Amino acid sequence: MNVEEMFQKMNAKLAGILPEGELRYKAELAVEINRLKKEKNAVILGHNYMEPALFHSIPDFTGDSLDLSRKAAQTDKDLIVFCGVKFMAETAKLLNPSKTVLLPSQEAGCSLAASITAEDVRALKQRFPGVPVVTYVNTYADVKAESDICCTSSNAAAVVNSLNSDTVIFLPDEYLARNVARETGKHIIFPTLTPNIPDGSGLDYQMIGWHGRCEVHEKFTVEDIDLIREQFPEVFVLAHPECSPEVVAAADFSGGTNAMIHQVADSSAPHHLLLTECAMGDNIISANPDKEILRLCMVRCPHMNQITLEDTLASLRFNQYQIEVPEEIRRRAARAVERMIAIG
Ligand code: 13P
Ligand code: SF4
Repeated sequence: MNVEEMFQKMNAKLAGILPEGELRYKAELAVEINRLKKEKNAVILGHNYMEPALFHSIPDFTGDSLDLSRKAAQTDKDLIVFCGVKFMAETAKLLNPSKTVLLPSQEAGCSLAASITAEDVRALKQRFPGVPVVTYVNTYADVKAESDICCTSSNAAAVVNSLNSDTVIFLPDEYLARNVARETGKHIIFPTLTPNIPDGSGLDYQMIGWHGRCEVHEKFTVEDIDLIREQFPEVFVLAHPECSPEVVAAADFSGGTNAMIHQVADSSAPHHLLLTECAMGDNIISANPDKEILRLCMVRCPHMNQITLEDTLASLRFNQYQIEVPEEIRRRAARAVERMIAIG
């Protein structure tokens, strides 16, 4: 595809969302990225939070964390370029270790992944011996390696229910844990938030959580929803499960990023409010030009926003930044992710 064809393709999706001058500049970058992708036998995976010009031009596959893990596991390309954040690129490496996995920016972290260490998990396992550990995929490989099974926002309750255990440790997202506890009817405790909880059996809890939070989703409030409902009384509100339980309760729907996309596509509501990273709003608007979509863009994910077309081009040109995971950690972490994938 030449630059003019790429511009036309992007413009068909993004006219009215991005100015023509920006689209022409980004079309040039996208054509060069796609040329190098072919030359280097690479696949590009793009998370739903990627900025719209990137999202609509270079990924071979777009999707949520679970989807992209599956694509990473299945690819036969030599190189995987992950347009997402570090824990996602690491998950690709865990599942397909013979491939070179590149993350275009070294700054693309995640506040949830940064909230817990492998040592923290070992200490919890010592305090609650024999209790299975469920870890959100938004963690680094050494934390996954200490876990029995991983989950994503789209399968967290199913993973917890699959364990057939009276009690589970669920890490590290406090709000996702509270939302899963409510969905599964379990009582949850947070040893780090209320440190004087006594240890031992016979206590009335079935989940043990941690204090991590997504720095984006924790900022949405019930007041935000109330204000929008005042202005648009028939608005349909969608909240990612990393939002607080109060926000999820005040919303009409809660689900991972793919589930939100499908829900908007199937909805006939006159207005929709998306409580998640703002760029995904642009991507949903471009897929549903007939629908009214509102979003709150005062909070953005600083990590996802690190991934640009410019950095992705440099990534392919200079083979940067390669994801490496020590084999002993990789093996154990991959087992936790594969167990999750096996339950669907
Ligand atoms: P999904 O698994 O729903 O794509 O979410 C990933 C994420 O980082 C949400 O903030
Ligand atoms: Fe992490 Fe939140 Fe950004 Fe997702 S939106 S990558 S959970 S900081």
